[in-house]
Amino acid sequence: MGRATALERIARGDRVIVIGSDPAKAVDGARFLRADLSSVAEVVRVAGEITEPVDALALFANRPQTRRVVTPEGLEYTFALYYLSRYLLGELLLPQLEASTRAVVVNVAGVGTKVGRIHWDDMQLARRYSVLRSQLQAGRANDLLGVSFAAQGRRARYVLYHPGFTRSGPRNLPIRLLAKAFAKPVAASVAPIVDWISAPPDEPLTASDRGKAVPLSLPTLSPGDAARLDASTKALPAVAALRRA
Ligand SMILES: NC(=O)c1ccc[n+]([C@@H]2O[C@H](COP(=O)([O-])OP(=O)(O)OC[C@H]3O[C@@H](n4cnc5c(N)ncnc54)[C@H](OP(=O)(O)O)[C@@H]3O)[C@@H](O)[C@H]2O)c1
Repeated sequence: MGRATALERIARGDRVIVIGSDPAKAVDGARFLRADLSSVAEVVRVAGEITEPVDALALFANRPQTRRVVTPEGLEYTFALYYLSRYLLGELLLPQLEASTRAVVVNVAGVGTKVGRIHWDDMQLARRYSVLRSQLQAGRANDLLGVSFAAQGRRARYVLYHPGFTRSGPRNLPIRLLAKAFAKPVAASVAPIVDWISAPPDEPLTASDRGKAVPLSLPTLSPGDAARLDASTKALPAVAALRRA
C-alpha cells in the first residue's frame, strides 16, 4: 500500500521519499532512504536525512513475527516497528510537518477494531507473546497515538485509517487464496490516503474504518489511555535517551 500510494502521488507531481528496509523495492521516481524502522537509532538517522518541509507523512511499515523477537535496543519487534517507529517519525519530523501549511499524517493500521489492548504491565510481551497479541496491541497503540498527537494542538492533521483486508503484504498460500477471493485491490484501499494527502481533513483527528467514520468516543480512542501511552513511551529508555540528547 505504501508503494501504491507513492506511485499515485508521483503521478500527481509530488516529490516523494520512500523509507524501507529493502533497496530492491525502491520506487521509480521517489527518493529511497534505506532504514530498518524497528531500530530507534535508525529511525532517528533516517529522520535526520529529511530536512525539507513535509506535507504528508504516511505510515505503513509492519512485519508480523510469529515468534517474539527482541531488537538490539531491548524492544519487542512489533511494538518497535509497528508502533514506536510511527510515534518517533511523527515527533522527529514535526518541525518539517509544521513548516507546511497543510500537513497531514496518515497512520494505516486497524482503527475501529475493538479487540486487543495495551498490556500496561507487559508492553514488551515478555510474559505472553503471540503474533496476534503483538499485532493487536500495536494496532491499539497506533489508535492512541493519533489521539495524543491531535490533542497537542499541532497544525498537522492526523488520520487513522483501517484499509480493510487488502491484496497486499507478504502472505502464505492459504492467505493468498483468501485474499484473491475476498480482499480489496490495493488501488481501492489507498484511494482515500491519496485523497487525504491532496486535501487534509479540517479536524485535528479523523478516524476511518474502511470508509466509515469511527466515532472518537470509541473506548479504543480514550484520551486517558492515549496520555498514559504517551507517558509510557517517553519513559522507555531508548526514547528517554533521545529526549536527553
Ligand atoms: N493488507 C491488509 O489486509 C491490511 C489490513 C488492515 C491493516 N493493514 C495495515 O496496513 C499497513 C500496510 O499494510 P500492507 O499490506 O501494505 O503491508 P506490506 O505490503 O507488508 O508492506 C509493509 C511495508 O513495511 C515495510 N517494512 C517492513 N519492515 C520494515 C522495517 N523493519 N523497516 C522499514 N520498513 C519495513 C516493507 O518495506 P521493506 O520490505 O522495504 O522493508 C513494506 O513495504 C500495515 O500496517 C498493516 O498492518 C493491512
